[in-house]
Order: sequence, then C-alpha cells, then structure tokens
Amino acid sequence: MKIIEAENLTKTFNGFTAVNGVNFHINRGEIFGFLGPNGAGKTTIINMLTGLAKITAGQVKLLGEDYTRSVKKAQALMGIVPDESNLYEELSGRENLCFCGALYGMEKGLREARADRLLEQFELVEAAGRPFRAYSKGMKRKLAIAAGIIHQPEILFLDEPTTGIDVGFARQIRKLIVDLHRRGTTIFLTTHYIEEAERLCERLAFIVRGKIVREGTVDELMKEAQRDNIVRFTLGGDFSGLAGEFKARFPGYAIQAGQDSGVSIHAPAPFPLLPLVQFFEERSLPVYEAKIVRPSLEEVFVKITGIEPQKMQNQQGPKSMKGPQGARS
Ligand SMILES: Nc1ncnc2c1ncn2[C@@H]1O[C@H](COP(=O)(O)OP(=O)(O)O)[C@@H](O)[C@H]1O
Ligand SMILES: [Mg+2]
Repeated sequence: MKIIEAENLTKTFNGFTAVNGVNFHINRGEIFGFLGPNGAGKTTIINMLTGLAKITAGQVKLLGEDYTRSVKKAQALMGIVPDESNLYEELSGRENLCFCGALYGMEKGLREARADRLLEQFELVEAAGRPFRAYSKGMKRKLAIAAGIIHQPEILFLDEPTTGIDVGFARQIRKLIVDLHRRGTTIFLTTHYIEEAERLCERLAFIVRGKIVREGTVDELMKEAQRDNIVRFTLGGDFSGLAGEFKARFPGYAIQAGQDSGVSIHAPAPFPLLPLVQFFEERSLPVYEAKIVRPSLEEVFVKITGIEPQKMQNQQGPKSMKGPQGARS
C-alpha cells in the first residue's frame, strides 16, 4: 500500500529548477531512500513532502489524498528530522521532547512517559537534564530523532541522518532506524553515503540535479552491474599517461582510474588477467595487487550517474541562486 505518492513534483527558486518533475511513491512499512550528491534536491523534496516548502508544480498524495487539503491530519502522521537541528539550545533534552509532544497536542502525562521511554531507548537518560547546547553532535542527532517520533508517527522523514556524525554515533543511529522500521514505522531517508543507502534501504531512488535517474529495490539496482566483470589493480605508479595506449590494446574494456594508484577495469565478459599484468609490467608499472571486484551498489551508482563517490559531497547547484542561509520559500 502506498503511503506517499509524489506526482511530477517540481520546485523552482527564482527561475532555477531545483526539483524537476519527480515521480515516486513510498510503500507503507518500507525504508525508502534518496541517494544523491549535495545539491541534488533531496532536502527540497523532503520540505515539499512535509509541508515546509511550497510546491511549485505537481502534487503529493498522502494515503491517496492530496495532502495540502488535510495538512493537520498529515502532520499527525508525519515525523520530521531535518538535516539541522530544530530543537531549543537552552532547554534540556527531556524538556525538548516534552515540548515537541505538547506541540502535537499530547497530554502531559502521556508526553512525559513517552519522553522517558525514548530517552531510555536512545541511551540518553544520563544527559536528559542537561541543556541541549551541551550535547555532542551525535547526541543532538539522536535527540532530534526521538523528538521526531514523540507522537508515534506512521512515517518518519530523516534528512541525512548520519551526515557529520562520528562513526560510533552513526552506527547507533542506523541501528535505531532499523529498530523503528521493525516496529512498523515507514522510513524515508536521504543520504549521500552509498554504503548507508545499500545497508539501510529496501528501495532507493538515485537523484541527480533535481531528477530521479533510477529507482528500484536494492536487488533490482544491483542487477545492472551483476554481469560486469571488474578487476581492480593496485599499481606502483601513475597510469594516467597510458590510457590511450590501453584503449588501443584492449578495445571493449572500460577503465576507471580511482584514488591513489588504483585502476578498475570493466570488461563485457570474463577476461584473462595475464595480458593485463604484462601490459602494465612492460611499461614499468609494477602490479602490487589484482582483485576481482564483486559489484556493489557503488559500481551501479557510478555506472548510472557518472558521479564518483568521492565527489558526492561537493556537487552543487548554482551558488549565486541560493537564497539566505536556511531560508526556505
Ligand atoms: N531557499 C533556496 N533558495 C534558492 N536555492 C535553493 C534554496 N534551497 C535550495 N536551493 C538550491 O536547490 C538545489 C537543491 O538543494 P537541496 O534540496 O538542499 O539539495 P540536497 O539536499 O540534495 O543537498 C541546490 O542547487 C540549492 O542550492
Ligand atoms: Mg540536503
């Protein structure tokens, strides 16, 4: 059953199209993710789905109904954890949770009981009385998630839940997301970490420059690379000057220079390694390692979008078009 459907969803900012006619849906009970580089339009889409930004064109249906006609009902069904915290620095963790509960109209006893349960579940009991401003980044993100589910929403929106968080907290947060999902909450998350998307999401959409370029279950997406034959070489020198010669000698093979002195070779069929090793050695490039690569979502993502994983953070739209920091219209 579809909980959310977006049809031809579009957002322009002063003539700049940030989201360009996207169509997708979220099924009840699943973890659905948007994977894309910085500036792709992920936050803008979340803001339109949750009523924080005006929709330029297209529409969002919540349980089959145009949600702009039932915003109150929509808000009760949705929990939102923005990429930057929206909690009060001077209130304690527990006060923040209770305050959010009050905003959702929960009565005092209920919101306090729920806050205490969440503080326990999120391992924040010790910090419960401390002001939010004294929390570490990871603790802040955990409390923001607790605040987003205080009213037990049907669907939780998580915008880059682990970005800028150190590994220990990121792991805790991923575990909390999986737990919530097991208890029946529908999860929509955005990320620019390929591995995180692969690990957490059941279904994914790749989003680049305001458009969905591919969508499917992780298994479906993986099929696009399963037939690829990939070998990754670690070489004792720089390959870049030899690309032309390589292409001439091995037509049909695609080569991808990675970081350091690694190159990946993609071939349409299983291929013998020895001629490749000889090619490198004859050109005084010692081969330190040759590894058969089992295709991961990373290979699929690179193949479809042409974006290298290390570029995920610095892709951007036109800077000059960006409005004042944090302003959403
Ligand atoms: N308030 C705004 N005014 C103008 N441009 C904006 C605004 N918010 C976002 N943008 C632009 O829209 C594009 C998508 O941004 P965003 O949705 O934040 O991407 P993501 O969350 O995928 O990093 C970017 O090019 C960004 O600069
Ligand atoms: Mg964003």
